[in-house]
Amino acid sequence: MYARRIVSVSRPLASIKTVKIPAAFVQRALLSNGPIRNDPTPTAPKSSQSSVDAKKISSLISDIKASATPKMAQTITPTLSKFTLNDKVAVVTGGARGLGNSIADALCDVNLKALVIFDVLKQHGDEAVIELTKKFNIPVVFHQVDVRQKDSVQAAVDATVSEFGKIDILVAAAGIADSNLPAEGYDVEMFRRLIDINLTGTFVCAQAVGNTMIKANSPGSMIFIASMSGHIVNWPQQQSCYNASKAAVIMLSKSLAAEWARYNIRVNSISPGYMDTALNRVPALDAQKKLWKERTPMNRLGNVDELNNLAVFMASDASTYMTGTDVIIDGGYCTW
Ligand SMILES: NC(=O)c1ccc[n+]([C@@H]2O[C@H](COP(=O)([O-])OP(=O)(O)OC[C@H]3O[C@@H](n4cnc5c(N)ncnc54)[C@H](O)[C@@H]3O)[C@@H](O)[C@H]2O)c1
Repeated sequence: MYARRIVSVSRPLASIKTVKIPAAFVQRALLSNGPIRNDPTPTAPKSSQSSVDAKKISSLISDIKASATPKMAQTITPTLSKFTLNDKVAVVTGGARGLGNSIADALCDVNLKALVIFDVLKQHGDEAVIELTKKFNIPVVFHQVDVRQKDSVQAAVDATVSEFGKIDILVAAAGIADSNLPAEGYDVEMFRRLIDINLTGTFVCAQAVGNTMIKANSPGSMIFIASMSGHIVNWPQQQSCYNASKAAVIMLSKSLAAEWARYNIRVNSISPGYMDTALNRVPALDAQKKLWKERTPMNRLGNVDELNNLAVFMASDASTYMTGTDVIIDGGYCTW
């Protein structure tokens, strides 16, 4: 079977090595720097003596940092331990590739118990299972599921609960984009299809997973991948339907957060800016990428893993009082 991967051994804080500073040294240092104030502005040394002490202090601090950093890296403090997902089971829709796959990887990396991917892409899903199982040595399961199909989503959720006993986390990343489509000629069937995948699909998965959490009376965390397009209108491409779908995903997240807080289910969303994924690696968008970068204060697209730590935060007990919140990660695009 699967050997559980232990990320790190928790150690009491008292056992973390500290460097002792001689009391006389501390007193001299305090006296030479005047009263202690909560003021970060550096105070100029008053004499050559205090200047020497300041040098000693700074070298002492360097020594402390040099000796403490490797120890801290090996230690899970109470604060860091809240970012781990011990014994939690996660479902990631759209986890076969792209942002969903990268987030799935990050969840596994913080001691997840089991990962389940719902996606339409069978080959990518199978590859993700092999890769993540090898890398993390935890159970990873793939269900070929179209998030629009209520019955197949329900069947995959039931199979997950019967295999792992529960679902604690849902990341809803499955989504598609239509771009460069002026509204006056937008095919209504295409419009319906995109809304069905991005919005209704998110709801179908949230409802099925939410019902298992409610039934089991166990807390849960849901993270919807929305978009900065739910906040601003992208330029220069015309994509009214995508923008509307993501604005709706953000409001769906807030609505479910309000309704399900009484069940201890938290629902938050992440709104990425332009990210360097397959969704954007299509020839039709090549010329526009230059413009996107120019309009992004950080002058680049986001890397595929740059949502991961926020997703871990939202999924974990590090964010237990956070619900109904949308966080934009866009290199500053929405600031202008
Ligand atoms: N890439 C970006 O710049 C960007 C920016 C903002 C938001 N987003 C959002 O992030 C999410 C992931 O995007 P990505 O860039 O990784 O794209 P991607 O195409 O690489 O990944 C999307 C995944 O969703 C799956 N999927 C699509 N339709 C599905 C369906 N009906 N049922 C089940 N699975 C389905 C795909 O097979 C794919 O694995 C999407 O919701 C997207 O709208 C992306």
